[in-house]
Amino acid sequence: MTADLRFPPGFRWGVSTSAYQIEGAVAEDGRGTSTWDTFCAEPGKILNGDSGAIACDHYHRYAEDVALMRELGVDTYRFSFAWPRIQPSGSGPGNAAGLDFYDRLIDTLLGAGIQPAPTLYHWDTPQPLEDAGGWLNRDITERFAEYAALLGARFGDRVPLWITINEPMVLTLMGYSLGAHAPGKQLLFDALPVAHHQLLAHGRAVQALRAAGALEIGIASNHAPTWPASESPEDVEAASLYDNLINWMFADPIILGEYPSGIGDGMPGPVADDLAIISTPLDFFGINHYAPVSVGVATGAGDTAATDGVQLPPGLPFEPRTLPGYPTTDFGWPIVPDAFGETLRIFRDRYGEKLPPIYITENGCAINDGVSDQRRIDYLSSYLRSLKSAIDDGIDVRGYFQWSLLDNFEWAAGYSQRFGLVHVDFETLERTPKESYYWLQALIAQNRR
Ligand code: NOJ
Repeated sequence: MTADLRFPPGFRWGVSTSAYQIEGAVAEDGRGTSTWDTFCAEPGKILNGDSGAIACDHYHRYAEDVALMRELGVDTYRFSFAWPRIQPSGSGPGNAAGLDFYDRLIDTLLGAGIQPAPTLYHWDTPQPLEDAGGWLNRDITERFAEYAALLGARFGDRVPLWITINEPMVLTLMGYSLGAHAPGKQLLFDALPVAHHQLLAHGRAVQALRAAGALEIGIASNHAPTWPASESPEDVEAASLYDNLINWMFADPIILGEYPSGIGDGMPGPVADDLAIISTPLDFFGINHYAPVSVGVATGAGDTAATDGVQLPPGLPFEPRTLPGYPTTDFGWPIVPDAFGETLRIFRDRYGEKLPPIYITENGCAINDGVSDQRRIDYLSSYLRSLKSAIDDGIDVRGYFQWSLLDNFEWAAGYSQRFGLVHVDFETLERTPKESYYWLQALIAQNRR
């Protein structure tokens, strides 16, 4: 069934996680408060009042988790550093106990033959930085560059692959525009500086990591096709605006050094100078891919399934809608394998020679079936087939990192959505590999032969 799923020699196989979603131990070893601790403590923000306070307790069980990865056969592990563990106040010298944890994790990975691919920032901002304006305040870009330099100096000798920021679009949209994620601001279009400051922070971090001698540097940005709800000029225009806001406002500045037309004018700062930093050349561009979206002109008929349950305010120039006619994951996201290959072809067509090599830094699905998760196997095999079709078309994709190793804290959905290859019992914290884990294990082994 998987015999045709053969990937190029040297293709990296990995799994992805992030600090707040798995670590727990939020008050240990000098870790400071993050925006997600604060947000989870606000009643009504997270389903069932869940939080990442314990999560998978990976902070104490990392060795068991690395053993699971080794057994799975992956060669790369994408995780994130918790900024509030490293710099509890958001600046200054590193917190020794926090840095020591990542030393232990990295050394355990290397000992198991797994290459660490850390992300510097996966949404858990130190609360003191948020109190000073967070990503709306340009100062955070300086703080982020210092943080990157500190990590580069400490881990640069052992880390081959570096990822600056995870999904800057989601932090902008969900965190500052709609308020469904920390820090819970509902600024609508006034959130645009958050995008610009993350991009600038990314560019500054790339320069700091380079100076520290880091090897391969990239970003993890989420991308998927935006399909107009109909062929009417109004729907096509609405979809194109939405597409610019969720896809190209993030990728164009990094890859081309410019914003899509009309967007750059509203950004703060000396934008032309900033774009020169933002477009500092990368070794790879990481794409997180989940599902395409259908967008039409606002009619008031849009449904919240297309926006993870968030009700969009009236008066916007577009309206995301669910895609009719597709099966969905348990999160309600449409399963459209062809859109994966399409995403990569759109990137190739848009950027041509300027497109760096690609890693798939995330792809996966919420399937809440326990360990008998045939539907995840079906998802993975169809998505990997679509990925392979893009590679066969000549697109330079160097690796695939599955989201996620473990069931974990799925942000506003708490523990209700299970993305893991390994089941976690959140009462006992016991880990049990699912059928999909063994399926991927066999696929990776087949690709090594
Ligand atoms: C995107 C995010 O990077 C990750 O944190 C999240 O859990 C998955 N996708 C699934 O929603």
